[in-house]
Amino acid sequence: MGPVTAVTPSPVSLPDLPVASARAVGERLAPLPAHRRTTFWLRARRWWDDLVTGLEVYADPHTVAGRLLELAAAAYAGRADDLHVLDEQRLLEPDWFQRPDMVGYAAYTERYAASGTGLPGVAERVDHLRDLGVTYLHLMPLLEPRPAPNDGGYAVADYRSVRPDLGTMDDLRDLAATLRANRVSLCLDLVLNHVAQEHEWAVAARSGDPHYRDYFYVYADRTEPDAFEATLPEVFPDFAPGNFTWDEELSAWVWTTFNAYQWDLNWANPDVFCEMADVILNLANHGVEVLRLDAIAFTWKRKGTNCQNQPEVHQLTQALRAVARIAAPALVFKAEAIVGPDDLVHYLGRGVHHGKVSDLAYHNSLMVQIWSMLASRDVTLAAHALARIPAIPSTTAWITYLRCHDDIGWAIDDGDAAAVQLNGYEHRGFLSRFYTGDFEGSFADGLVFQHNLATGDMRVSGSAASLAGVGRALRDGDRGRLDDAVGRLLLGHALVLGWGGIPVIWSGDEIAALNDPHWDEVAEHAEDNRWAHRPALDWDVVDALADDPGSPAARVCRGLRAMVRARASLPHLHASVSAHPLPTGAPGVLGVVRQHPLGAMVGIYNVTEHDRYVPAWWLAAQGLDPHAVLDHLTGAPPPVTEYDDLRLAAYQAMWLTAR
Ligand code: GLC
Repeated sequence: MGPVTAVTPSPVSLPDLPVASARAVGERLAPLPAHRRTTFWLRARRWWDDLVTGLEVYADPHTVAGRLLELAAAAYAGRADDLHVLDEQRLLEPDWFQRPDMVGYAAYTERYAASGTGLPGVAERVDHLRDLGVTYLHLMPLLEPRPAPNDGGYAVADYRSVRPDLGTMDDLRDLAATLRANRVSLCLDLVLNHVAQEHEWAVAARSGDPHYRDYFYVYADRTEPDAFEATLPEVFPDFAPGNFTWDEELSAWVWTTFNAYQWDLNWANPDVFCEMADVILNLANHGVEVLRLDAIAFTWKRKGTNCQNQPEVHQLTQALRAVARIAAPALVFKAEAIVGPDDLVHYLGRGVHHGKVSDLAYHNSLMVQIWSMLASRDVTLAAHALARIPAIPSTTAWITYLRCHDDIGWAIDDGDAAAVQLNGYEHRGFLSRFYTGDFEGSFADGLVFQHNLATGDMRVSGSAASLAGVGRALRDGDRGRLDDAVGRLLLGHALVLGWGGIPVIWSGDEIAALNDPHWDEVAEHAEDNRWAHRPALDWDVVDALADDPGSPAARVCRGLRAMVRARASLPHLHASVSAHPLPTGAPGVLGVVRQHPLGAMVGIYNVTEHDRYVPAWWLAAQGLDPHAVLDHLTGAPPPVTEYDDLRLAAYQAMWLTAR
């Protein structure tokens, strides 16, 4: 018989922690040194109330909380020493992800690493990330998906293994460690709204196991589906119409918001919550530092609504975050909620959830408004719409981006449009036509994605460079237009990097990659033109940047690197400082003012291909004297006219502070 370890009682009181769970937690912690046990209980005390109130969506929140604390204790006990150190470090520096030197990059493993090298191959190419100043790497879905088609990996068949062609869970752990040693935090997707129909839970459900049938929304006939459909939109009207799929083996309709092979999980079932919490803890123990909560908006269903952004979504996120904080506080959550401006801030915590849900969230509105400004050469709508978004909790940060791997949906609110004398429907239609090249004077080369004839809604695919006009200008051999297109890209990046939060560069955008002309040659991609803007990174171009300094790739890459450096030196860009967008008095020039204890930082962005003059009075109103400012993007004082106005060239951005 081995030595018997005494189970010491909890040093803190957790109201209503069931006795059996308290005992089980004690047993799991027993092998740990005393200081580790104490730390666990102190964290449990710190996050217990968040956990229990989050779980109030369930009939018996304390029992579920007890189960979760057991899972947390097991994960904590199995967590590697270096990750425990990371936990302490992050708790001492809770603003680690808010700092101005944070820069993100997102890529597919196999489209970034050399062919066939998988996860170890990413580590071999960490230099490119370091050269760019990247501190955060989002690798696109890499857990084992169903066989193709699998929505680019967003149909997960096993959350506990890596796609075999990319490596193993050990490779994942090694990569996370290598990245961390290079000051890069690894972000992975947590696809939590749905699983692949091949996932073992779905397989068990199909085989008739009632326990697993309850993991999904399963209906014997159309009564309930029809009642829900009355108010449900369609995410993929082209290739996956409707939100329910008939499954022969289930002999029932199953909820499938996205593709027919992606089965929505029933988050109203606490077993689903516990399963996912355990998946989260396992990924955290492999060294993942950020989890992207994929399609989080859809996780709670309510009849009579669009089944997005329901209050329970935020309650459940709060509870998930509490579990993660107890076992692995180095882990933070990033909400992928591509929703309208009014719903967006809730993902960073409003009201009772202030600062208690996701730490990061995609600033979808900023992305949309950047493209809207570039098409219209007007900042009125953007200034109004972005200014109306409430301040986010000072402990959170936006993920800002010019492009991501998805299509662009024109999330422009009708009320915002009306407030600036625009018609929302018309403006969205204009943007769709403009960016797919179907508008007189358009510079863009985008593709139509999911044209919904019923609603008129039309989304757009295309790389940042193709949307900004690089492709057209190159085809026409027009140098002037090429300069404009490069200017637009750099201006877009300046807005993204100058907003505060973590700017994420989509792989290929750093070298102005165009749409992939061969995107549809992979059979399972042929239906989905989002693959046009997910090209494999062209390493020949990366390696030759120095040889052709005048190429769009070199100009964009150089510009980006300079911005990243400037950004890192500006405390004003800490995410806890809010950004106030406003018109500048110069048509087509957006101002973004940040009031920091060190003084104001003023970003000004000319979204037109013409010279513009920002009046001296406007700058003075922000507390800056045009003769005593420094533009951190050039490192020099900005040009000032004889009337003291600031002169901006076409598509010029400035980041100004007092000298
Ligand atoms: C997210 C992903 C998208 C995917 C969808 C379904 O929106 O970004 O690519 O199609 O979720 O998982």
